[in-house]
Amino acid sequence: MRISVIGTGYVGLITGICLAELGNNVTCADRDPSKIQRLRHQEVPIYEPGLQPLLIRNAERGNLQFTTDIREAVKRSDLIFIAVGTPSLPSGEADLSHVEEAARDIALGMNEPKIIVTKSTVPVGTNHRIHAIVAGLTSFPFEIAAAPEFLREGSAVQDTLHPDRVVIGVESGTTEAVLRELYRPFTDEIVVTDIRSAEMIKYASNAFLATKISFINEIANICEKVGADVTEVAKGMGLDKRIGPAFLQAGIGYGGSCFPKDTEALIQIAGNENYNFRLLKAVVEVNKEQRFNIVRKLRETLGPLRGRTIAIWGLAFKPNTDDVRESPALEIIKLLLESGAAIRAYDPIATSNFGRLMGTASVTWCVSALDAADQADAVCLLTDWDEFKRIDLTEVRSNMKLPLMIDGRNVFTPRQMRAYGFQYYSIGRPGRSEERTGSRA
Ligand code: UDX
Repeated sequence: MRISVIGTGYVGLITGICLAELGNNVTCADRDPSKIQRLRHQEVPIYEPGLQPLLIRNAERGNLQFTTDIREAVKRSDLIFIAVGTPSLPSGEADLSHVEEAARDIALGMNEPKIIVTKSTVPVGTNHRIHAIVAGLTSFPFEIAAAPEFLREGSAVQDTLHPDRVVIGVESGTTEAVLRELYRPFTDEIVVTDIRSAEMIKYASNAFLATKISFINEIANICEKVGADVTEVAKGMGLDKRIGPAFLQAGIGYGGSCFPKDTEALIQIAGNENYNFRLLKAVVEVNKEQRFNIVRKLRETLGPLRGRTIAIWGLAFKPNTDDVRESPALEIIKLLLESGAAIRAYDPIATSNFGRLMGTASVTWCVSALDAADQADAVCLLTDWDEFKRIDLTEVRSNMKLPLMIDGRNVFTPRQMRAYGFQYYSIGRPGRSEERTGSRA
C-alpha cells in the first residue's frame, strides 16, 4: 500500500518503519527539517533498540522516504496516518493543535479518495473533528479511522511487529477491509469497532495499567508497615489468571510520555461530561507521592540531607530508553538539591536529555555507576537498568563513604545486600531492622 505518516516522533517513526518493513511504500513527513535531514542520513533521532537496522534496510530497498512536504506526502499515498504529538495543556486536557494542523495539511494535499487514520492518542470525538476540518477544506471523498497505538518505549519495534492486538475504529466496511489487510501480517487479533470506542480503548487501557501500578505501590506501602514483602505478594497475586503478573512491579511510580498525560486527559474527558473519575484521580495522586518515599527513606536514615552526597543511578523514566519525560528522577533530584544535598548522577544513555531538562541545576554528571557512588553517603537506584543488576557490589561499597542503598525499583534483594554489607532499603519489602528471620527475600 502507498502510505504516508505525519509526525516522526516515537509513534510515527516506528509505525512508518514497521509498515515499510512489511513491504508497504511509506513516506514519513515532519515539519522539522533537522529531523528529516537526520533520517535521510539514516540516523535515528530517538534511542530505540532495533530501529536503525530496519530504517537502513527499508530506505535502501526504496520502501521508505522522508520529507518535510506534508502535502506532497499526502498526494503520493492512499492511506495517511496522523501520528503527531498531543501534549498536555495546563488543564490536563490534550492539546490538539498539531492534530488539527495535520488535518488541514491533509485536506490541502488531497488529489484523490483517501483514508485518514489517527494514531495519535486523542480524546473521544476528535476523529469526527478531523473529519469536519478536512471536509471543510476539500471536496475529494475520504474516510476516517482510528488506530490507537499501544507500543512501549524500549520494546517498540517488537511491540509493533508482534502486538497483543490491533484496535481499529471505522465507519465503513471498505475502510475495515483495507485496514484488516494492512494489519493482518502483524496479528490475527484485530478488534474492529466504532471510532469513539477505539479512541476510548486507548485511554482506558493506559488508565488501567496506571491503576495496576498505583495499586501495587499502595500495597507496597502497607507491606512496609506490616512486615510483608510486596514482591512475594505480587507473585502470589499474579499467578491468578484473572489478575496476571504484568504491571505489578512496585517502585517509585510511573513516568514517561503516556501514562501521566493520558490519565490526566481521561480525568478531563470525564470532567467535561460532569463525571468525577474518582478512582483515576486517586491513581494519579498515589503516583505523584510514591516517588518521594525515596527522599523520606534517606532522611529517616541520614537525618538532614544538607552537606550529604547522594548518588543517583538511573535518570530515564524506565530502562532501555533515553526518554526522561515525566521521569520520577526529575522531582527526586530537585527535592534533594533543595534539601542541600550534592548530587552525583549517572544513566547509561539518558544523561544529556536529563541535563537539558534540569537546566542549570548543579548536578555532577558521572561516567559510570561506580563513579557516581564515589564517596557518596547513599546510592538511590531510580531506573532498573540491567547494567545495575550486574554491578560489582563489593567495589561499589568500598567506593562509598557510607554503605547505604535506597533501591527504588527492587533490583536487589535484602539478603544479597546484607551479604555485601549494605544498609539497604527497597520498596514494600522488610527493611534491615524489621526483616524477619527466615524471610525468603
Ligand atoms: C506505556 C504503555 O505500556 C503503552 O501501551 C502505551 O502505548 C504508552 O505508554 P511506556 O510509557 O513506553 O508505555 O512504558 P511502560 O513500559 O508501560 O512503563 C511505564 C511506566 O510505568 C514506567 O515508568 C515504568 O517504570 C512504570 N512501571 C511499569 C512500574 O512502575 N511498574 C510496573 O509494573 C510496570
